Amino acid sequence: MLFYEGDDWMIRERKDSMKKKIMNKVTTAVHGGEKFGEWADSLTTPIFQTSTYVFKNSEEIRKFASGARERYEYARYGNPTQRVAEEKLAELEGTEDCLLFDSGMSAVSSTLLAFLSSGDHMVTVDDAYKKTLHFCSNVLPRFGIGCSVVPMGDYAAMEEAVSGKTKILYSESPTNPYLNIADFEKLREIKERHGLLLIIDSTFGTPYNQHPADWGADIVIHSATKYLGGHNDLLAGAVLGGKEAVKKVRDYQGTVGGIIEPHAAYLLLRGIKTFGLRMERHNSNGMAVARFLSTCPHIKRVYYPGLESHRDHAPAARQMKGFGGVVTFEMDTDIEGVYRFLDGLKLCKIAPSLGGVESLITNPASLSYSDVSREERLALGITDGLVRLSVGIEDPEDITADLKNAIDRI
Ligand SMILES: Cc1ncc(COP(=O)(O)O)c(C=O)c1O
Repeated sequence: MLFYEGDDWMIRERKDSMKKKIMNKVTTAVHGGEKFGEWADSLTTPIFQTSTYVFKNSEEIRKFASGARERYEYARYGNPTQRVAEEKLAELEGTEDCLLFDSGMSAVSSTLLAFLSSGDHMVTVDDAYKKTLHFCSNVLPRFGIGCSVVPMGDYAAMEEAVSGKTKILYSESPTNPYLNIADFEKLREIKERHGLLLIIDSTFGTPYNQHPADWGADIVIHSATKYLGGHNDLLAGAVLGGKEAVKKVRDYQGTVGGIIEPHAAYLLLRGIKTFGLRMERHNSNGMAVARFLSTCPHIKRVYYPGLESHRDHAPAARQMKGFGGVVTFEMDTDIEGVYRFLDGLKLCKIAPSLGGVESLITNPASLSYSDVSREERLALGITDGLVRLSVGIEDPEDITADLKNAIDRI
């Protein structure tokens, strides 16, 4: 971390080991990475709203160029507000380093492109965020990079898809929208047998509920737009892992861009301070709403990894501390019935995205999958009656009352 002392910018090493021993995640969310009082005695980390950094003289340039002094140079290569947020996140995730991007998709696409070259191949799963699947299946092949998409949970098919050209094994966990869980032990076995890089998109899992790096993931990705920011007011992405792996992505970002803007980095920092509290509430609200919906008329099936009825409850219980706030369910009505239900809601807002303090609800068939044919989306399991609810941190009884009222209007 760079900090200002006297009239000089210096590098200070993180006291990681000590912090990890004494802090739990709730405390780390508040204190991790922070340099209290470092800048003009300010308690909070300032927004360094600058595009470039001044060199006092040519000697400073020479020292910087020779590597004798680390400092900031130009904002595409880093910013102190961003760096504090990165250090906080690395402490939360338990990885050596973190790199922030201006969106989750930027983090996903840049990480894949940083590690893959023409002629390489990757394997991913079919139950994944739509744009990630689109990038892997449609964009990467334009650069001569192959991608096999295998059914989520079919580890034999996953291993069969690996060839001598395969470099990356990629999965989300829990997945979007079915909340299926990747069995990290099985992924680790495949990765080790074939010498692959294992990347886990842990957006739905969050560093409060799971730590894929402890289970063998080399790189963990988050859409920080979701639970990390937590307030539905910013876009950001995070790439976490060992120093060397993150450096490779950082060098790539220095060339292609996609860096988080200082104000967004500040909002992210501010949002993460309440991360522990928010996650406790998301976890308990998610479970309460999943249980409630399981008893409701017109709800055919509820997908929530905390429920014993979920197909992946066993790995979820093994790998996760809590199960988050997203509850997906299948309604037994046609699309008009789903619309009547959505229109009957008052508290839950109809909007894409998830992981924020407000409860948000969406019908993927009519919104995020409206640009693909019905046959295509049904093949991906996106039925007309599928609804994804991101349970916020409101009072759980207010949320269930809102849902009951809307179900009654079907
Ligand atoms: C699992 C997952 N990964 C990545 C993304 C992309 O993140 P962003 O919207 O911040 O670009 C999303 C967005 O919904 C997501 O759900």
